[in-house]
Amino acid sequence: DKSKNLEQKKAAAFRAVQMVQDNLIVGLGSGSTMQIFVDLISERIKRERLHLSFVPASKKIEKYSLPFGLNLLDINYVDRIDIAFDGADRIDEQNNLIKGGGGSLFRERQILDMAQSRVIVVDSSKFVSNFAKEIIPIEIVPYNYRWTVHKINLLGFIGNIRGEATPFMTDNGNYIYDAYNLNNFDVTETYHSLKLVAGVVDVGLFKENDYQIIYSHE
Ligand code: A5P
Repeated sequence: DKSKNLEQKKAAAFRAVQMVQDNLIVGLGSGSTMQIFVDLISERIKRERLHLSFVPASKKIEKYSLPFGLNLLDINYVDRIDIAFDGADRIDEQNNLIKGGGGSLFRERQILDMAQSRVIVVDSSKFVSNFAKEIIPIEIVPYNYRWTVHKINLLGFIGNIRGEATPFMTDNGNYIYDAYNLNNFDVTETYHSLKLVAGVVDVGLFKENDYQIIYSHE
């Protein structure tokens, strides 16, 4: 099944790459699907001599992109992103997304927010009916994190700090609390209440109506 998913990621990434027009500033999300996207867009740039710039959403995708010679921009020095591409961990029936499985969510949201248009590239394993029992990564500040976790728990979400004894560190120097709710929940309401917990930097729930979802069932 892993190889089937890989084929689907490749097919979807191939379609996504065809959507890029010349002279654009492109937001580059993270994850294995976006790495395939980088492989394929690099080929197109060489073949068609395109003038593209990229704003990477994580240190990992930035590092991955470097050997391809992509023109990478610092987000603090760009005033627009024309189109952003990213993967996702789960998609429910309303096209809500869970992101952050790879540890980046805050920077991904910044880029998606800023972009004129947004394209989410996934394989068929990502589709679920709802987010009950699904892991929602929550980025939290290390300072007094146990209190932050306590406040998250009061909202009906349980889980664990990613990496446990040697916590995983995000690109922003924070922890990830991998949380889940045993029951189904309202995505918008939950996003807002979790986001209001003082130690929470970002919540891996993304609700947007203007995401274009690209997937392949091949
Ligand atoms: C990164 O933290 C996530 O938001 C990614 O978009 C997600 O993990 C997708 O990864 P794959 O493309 O490897 O499935």
